[in-house]
Order: sequence, then C-alpha cells, then structure tokens
Amino acid sequence: MSSVVQLERDPETGVAIIRLDRGKVNAINEAMLEELTSICNSLADDREIRAAVLTGGSRHFAAGADIERFPTFDRDDALAFSRQFNDTALGIEGLPQITISAINGYALGGGLELALATDFRVAASDAQLGNPEVLLGIIPGGGATQRLARLAGVTMAKDLVYSGRAIGAEEALANNLISAVFEPDEVQAEAVKMAEGYAAGPASLQLAKAAVLSGYHLPLDEAVKIESELFADAFNTEDCAIGVQSFLENGPGKASFTGR
Ligand code: COA
Repeated sequence: MSSVVQLERDPETGVAIIRLDRGKVNAINEAMLEELTSICNSLADDREIRAAVLTGGSRHFAAGADIERFPTFDRDDALAFSRQFNDTALGIEGLPQITISAINGYALGGGLELALATDFRVAASDAQLGNPEVLLGIIPGGGATQRLARLAGVTMAKDLVYSGRAIGAEEALANNLISAVFEPDEVQAEAVKMAEGYAAGPASLQLAKAAVLSGYHLPLDEAVKIESELFADAFNTEDCAIGVQSFLENGPGKASFTGR
C-alpha cells in the first residue's frame, strides 16, 4: 500500500513535518486517517521531536473527506467514518508536541478539521478555509461543530457550518481560526521556524499543553487542581533548574533548555 501521509523527522531541530500527500486535493479517506493515527502513536513516544508541522500541498492543504466514498455509505458506514475521523483528530490534539498547521490553498471540511486539532494554524494570504458539508446535504463529522465553536465562538461556528461558505485568511485571522498570515511561498518556512522555537523551549511546554487540554472541559475548581499537579511536575525537570538559575544570574529569557 502506498503511503498517503509522509513523516519527516529532524532530530537536530526537534521538528517533524507531517505531510498529507494523496492525489490532487488530499481528499481524506480511511487509509489517510489510519496513517495519521499511526504517525501520532509514534510521535507520542518520540522524545527527540518536540514540535510538529502538519501540512499539505501548495494548492490544497486538504479538500475534505473523500466525497467519492459517500455514494455507497449507509448510516453505519457514516458513523464508523466519523468515529474514525474524530479519533484521529483527538490523536493529533493530544500529541505532547506543540503542533502547527501550515495551510496553503484550500483547507475545507475534514481538511480544516485536521488543522483545528493542532495547537496553531498559520495560512497563506490566498488560503480558503471552511466547512462546506451542508452544501452536500450533510454536516461536519470530524469535530468542526465543536472545535470551531470553541476557537471562533458559537456564532461564527454557526455561520460557517450553516452556510458552508469558505473564508479567506484575513477573516480567519480576525476570528481566531488562525494565528498568522504569510505570503504563500513563506507559509511552510514560517511554520517550521515557529516549530523550531517551540522545539528549543523547555520541557514544561508539554506540561503547559497538557494543563490547557485536560482542564478545558472541566469545572474551574477541578481544572486548576490539574494545573497544580502539572506545575509541581515542572519542578522535576532539568529545564526548571536551568531556567531559574539563568534568570537569577542573567535576567529573563536567556536560558538554553534541554527539553528534559
Ligand atoms: N473528495 C473527492 N474528490 C474531490 C474532493 C473531495 N473532497 N474535492 C475535490 N475533488 C476532486 C474533484 O472532483 C476533481 O476531480 P477530477 O479532476 O477528477 O474532476 C479534482 O479533485 C479537482 O477538483 P476541482 O474542483 O476541479 O479543483 P479546484 O482546485 O478548482 O477546486 C475545491 C478545489 C477544493 C475548491 C473544490 O474541488 C471543492 O469544493 N471540493 C469539495 C470540498 C468539500 O465539499 N469538502 C467537504 C467534503 S465532506
């Protein structure tokens, strides 16, 4: 079976690139979801990689689920596909590494849903983002109804999901869907630069991510208990000793971290 997702690891910088690579538009099928899940499983135990960039092609980040699969789908098939998609997206979201989607071209439907599962998204000035599922008579099944509402607010999520309209990079930026807009030929390099910055950061970045993710769905009093545990865990890292010592000797922001 030929691969439809490429993984490039660079242990020198601590950054991995996960590249969707299926046909003209990176239409997402079960095989792509399986490969993404297996890559997430391997990255979850990869101590050399501390940040990852999820990307696609130069014209299509990904145009969504493979619509050619749909004519034969009955309810059970649709349910299985949506569950598999959501498991894959949760796998991406739960990665210990800091993750950034680099979006060129179209990120539609499931393409946007994969990107919504990463920590950050940066996009080309001519990128188009949206969830056009209603235009097919269906709804998003890979988490967009939930993650869009959490990232961009309920009203924006309803607007995008009910209308199916695609928005440009500037509108996506103004609505918190993405963090930055770059020229199309700079998106990948900028995302990698951003990832390298995180990869050079302290081990506590993974604890910070775990605190944000695990507390998000809980009542505040329970969420801050988790934060306290992870705060305490940070004091067991080498980087805590390095960061504190460096501040006391040289002032803020000068520490060189090890990731341990
Ligand atoms: N699944 C399967 N095939 C798809 C696809 C998808 N999600 N999106 C595009 N394709 C196919 C097209 O059918 C076309 O196939 P062909 O060359 O055999 O005719 C090819 O990819 C190129 O698409 P085309 O529309 O000609 O390219 P474009 O660059 O002008 O437009 C899109 C790209 C992404 C804007 C447009 O194809 C589109 O709207 N796709 C559907 C997006 C969608 O509804 N996603 C949600 C799925 S649940």
